[in-house]
Amino acid sequence: MKLEEKTMKTCRCNHRLVVMLGLLAASAIVSAAEPERQKLTWEPSRNWLSDAPTAQDSFQRLERYLGGFGQRMREIGDRFEVLHDAVSRKKYELAAFEWKEIGTAMVSGYLTRPQFQANAEGMFMTGAFPEFKAALASGDKKKIDAMFETARQTCMACHIAEKVAFINDHPIFLKTAKLSLQR
Ligand code: HEC
Repeated sequence: MKLEEKTMKTCRCNHRLVVMLGLLAASAIVSAAEPERQKLTWEPSRNWLSDAPTAQDSFQRLERYLGGFGQRMREIGDRFEVLHDAVSRKKYELAAFEWKEIGTAMVSGYLTRPQFQANAEGMFMTGAFPEFKAALASGDKKKIDAMFETARQTCMACHIAEKVAFINDHPIFLKTAKLSLQR
């Protein structure tokens, strides 16, 4: 019994070795087929920017860390929810603040991902953005409520234009579909 266990163990080890060798061989084939990729050299450090080998590396790390349009969209989404709440409660100063920040985030977004600039400007920054800003400044509830919905539709239209229509299934667009009753 003991002997049997021992051989079983050896067998398993051998099996593992074969699998490992197989994997090594496979990875060798893959790396031979693929062009040499630049490896991330990584010395773990809290000072991940100042300890980077060169300034160029620091910039690359920063670009990677800051992310692109999606990161700014997350911020825009959060602010849009606050905006929705503020408009529902007629807190127009707060609403105007959030709207301005949404505009800033949109511009920062296409600063990092220029492929979105055309639609961000054409559909949003030169249309819904100044229009809703003006409505908020007017203090006219009817106008503001109507423009909020127009702005929301503009967000969703751009998601369709940019071929990310599935984003419109994000819970935020359900939550903001109606202005909630005033509290
Ligand atoms: C340039 C067109 C454009 C406009 C205008 C736009 N979006 Fe987006 N949005 C995108 C794209 C593209 C993505 C997917 C980003 C990615 O690839 O990571 C996105 C993603 C999102 C996401 C998902 C973020 C995540 O990671 O969960 C939310 C939420 C969102 N947008 C909300 C909004 C809201 C609210 C508005 C209007 C105030 C808006 N968007 C206006 C293009 C746009």
